[in-house]
Amino acid sequence: MSRLSVGSRSVAGKVVIVTGAASGMGRATAHLFADEGARVVVVDLAQGAVDRVVSEISAVHGGESVIGAVLDVTDVAGIGALVASVVDRWSTIDVLVNNAGISIGLPIDHVNHPEAWDRTIAVNLTSHVHMIRACLPYLKASATGGRIVNIASTEGLGASAMISPYTAAKHGVVGLTRSLAVELGAQNVTVNCVCPGPINTGMTSTIPDEAKMKFARRRVPMRRYGEPEEVAHGTLNFALPASSFMNGVIMQIDGGMLCQNT
Ligand code: NAI
Repeated sequence: MSRLSVGSRSVAGKVVIVTGAASGMGRATAHLFADEGARVVVVDLAQGAVDRVVSEISAVHGGESVIGAVLDVTDVAGIGALVASVVDRWSTIDVLVNNAGISIGLPIDHVNHPEAWDRTIAVNLTSHVHMIRACLPYLKASATGGRIVNIASTEGLGASAMISPYTAAKHGVVGLTRSLAVELGAQNVTVNCVCPGPINTGMTSTIPDEAKMKFARRRVPMRRYGEPEEVAHGTLNFALPASSFMNGVIMQIDGGMLCQNT
């Protein structure tokens, strides 16, 4: 029997941009890729927070493994400058993880809803488009195939009250992923999406433990919140050279939450 061909399950040497990488799932993702030998670009809003994650990674893997970039992902000119500086330093971009996100809870008739809508759509959805457009020429040229991983949410598949901008944006991320998977599939780039359930990160840090436990007991078959690294491993899987036929996949990482009827 002829031997099966074996795809590479290594991202060693790959250049990976992670947005929102100073906290939560983005930070865990940046660490995981660096641990697996990738060269990582840590993108976030504040210099101090970016520097902290860059220091953590370079302390383990050396300064050549990581670049920090202070950027608001809604800043289109800034995105262009970021991509230029990454390519100047490392010549390629192999993986883009669109992870940066915000959540503003407001009822639809609240006076501040229009601003919450604009900002949430800009950060959680439109920024993905700008990041993808800027990185695309390099992703198409990636030696082992470009990889885009968009971080949506279980709010991209279902809905909760009071966060309509967030839910609409995350549904948009799911649709964007599917559309670009079809558009770019023949151009050496895969596009996939992770939908995390409730995860212990900065975004959920203000929810009291008791409320988290109550929610998890009622809604999550695994009876707990997830941890950021449990999501990062899913993202890594989409980025592997071996994941070459995974395209347009919307993957829940939610402890089984969306499967549970009662
Ligand atoms: P987090 O708050 O710990 O991290 C988000 C990071 O994004 C922060 O470091 C923040 O500074 C950064 N960020 C926000 N706006 C930015 C901007 N305009 N430009 C650059 N960076 C920006 O939150 P978490 O939970 O790690 O969020 C990561 C992604 O996961 C988000 O897209 C979020 O919507 C999504 N998510 C989170 C869930 C949870 O339960 N924590 C559940 C489902 C999805």
